[in-house]
Amino acid sequence: MDRIVVHKCGPLNGSVRVPGAKNSVLKLMVASLYAPGTHILTNVPDISDVGTMGRLLGALGVDVRHDSNDPDVLFLVNSGDIRTQAPSELVETIRASINLLGPLLSCCGHVRLDLPGGDDFGARPIDMHIAGLTAMGVEFDPAKDHIEARAERLHGADIVLDFPSVGATENLVTAAVHAEGLTTIRNAAREPEIADLCSMLTEMGAQITGIGTSTISIEGVPRGSLVPVTHAVVGDRVQAATYLASVAVAGGDVTVTGSRSQHMEVLLRRMNEMGPEITAVPGGVRMKSDGYLRAVDVQTLPYPGIATDYKPLLMTMLAVAEGIGIVTENLYPGRFRYVEELSKLGADIRTDGHHAIVRGVAGLRGAAVSAPDIRAGAALVVAGLAAEGRTIISGVEHIDRGYDDIVGRLRGIGASVERISVDAP
Ligand code: UD1
Repeated sequence: MDRIVVHKCGPLNGSVRVPGAKNSVLKLMVASLYAPGTHILTNVPDISDVGTMGRLLGALGVDVRHDSNDPDVLFLVNSGDIRTQAPSELVETIRASINLLGPLLSCCGHVRLDLPGGDDFGARPIDMHIAGLTAMGVEFDPAKDHIEARAERLHGADIVLDFPSVGATENLVTAAVHAEGLTTIRNAAREPEIADLCSMLTEMGAQITGIGTSTISIEGVPRGSLVPVTHAVVGDRVQAATYLASVAVAGGDVTVTGSRSQHMEVLLRRMNEMGPEITAVPGGVRMKSDGYLRAVDVQTLPYPGIATDYKPLLMTMLAVAEGIGIVTENLYPGRFRYVEELSKLGADIRTDGHHAIVRGVAGLRGAAVSAPDIRAGAALVVAGLAAEGRTIISGVEHIDRGYDDIVGRLRGIGASVERISVDAP
């Protein structure tokens, strides 16, 4: 029953380092299913989803534990005896459990999962995963309350995705690792986290070309031919964006390291158009802001466009900017649910379908709000930095799923933020 309490503050100064990306590490952990032995991941974020995925893999036959001397390092010991049925209570907790489909089918020819959970942005269908895997020879049980699929031998296929889905691209790449022949995925998603997964699989012995492009080709290699590796998780561009948004609204001069500026190009350009001065520095990005922001229009798009995960942060910046910004959500129509919470802080936002009109106000005022999901929760913390008085955020467990010590990191650059425990009602 923790709360995060934020007071208006600024300017923020100094530097903050972000750890590895949630949306990469969870999939890299799953890659340990391919090879018996000890896999090592470094730059691992201390987030609760890593613990959930660790327990999920534990139930499948991979023992996951942190290095006792270095919490950023994770050991994943694949016993060589992998089970293909995942426990429902864990599958229901994280969206990334869907990423078990490709590796389990590829390595074991069978998978049974309950429907995956994760942030509630409305319907999150998996029709493209199913269509692509079916083209590779997978047979799905038609039951609606779980996913069960089999394929004695997967074969290569030429697959064109209707939309560059992150999850579908990852599942098709991972399914193709041991498929017979060549699989080509066209209109593939190009997110840096997918490139990170493909790089790790390649280091393990998979044959993948076109990494980071919209056409990825995988030449299947025999089962049992992959080997464990040590791999560093790519830096978290959404956590980096969170600290940049904090400086943008509170003012200051902060360098954010750990994430590559090339992975945030369009976002940085848009933030710069709003007023802050942004420069790429070795290992990260430096932002100088006087706290004055002007409105711009924003639309979310697949990478390299502005990620839907950045949007709550941009909405918060627009809430205190001069002028009116129109925000268009092209990925998840239901992903405006936090607007009500921002409005409690005095934001002037009207939504209509997948558009939001944000009229900047002179200032926000603190209130009690609740985090509905990971990114929206972080955006409420950022909003609190610009709100007069005290902002108290509940639903902190959502933020913990994807943020590694947001309170400590913000305090490190001078923000007035604390985490408190309250007794359950
Ligand atoms: C991943 C990220 C999430 C991010 C999203 C988009 C993880 C664990 N989560 O989610 O943080 O917001 O990418 O960058 O990495 N779709 C279909 N059918 C499908 C698959 C997807 O209609 O078979 C739709 C989805 O409903 C959504 C859009 O495509 O509207 C994008 O989804 P996708 O790219 O697959 O996102 P996720 O992998 O679920």
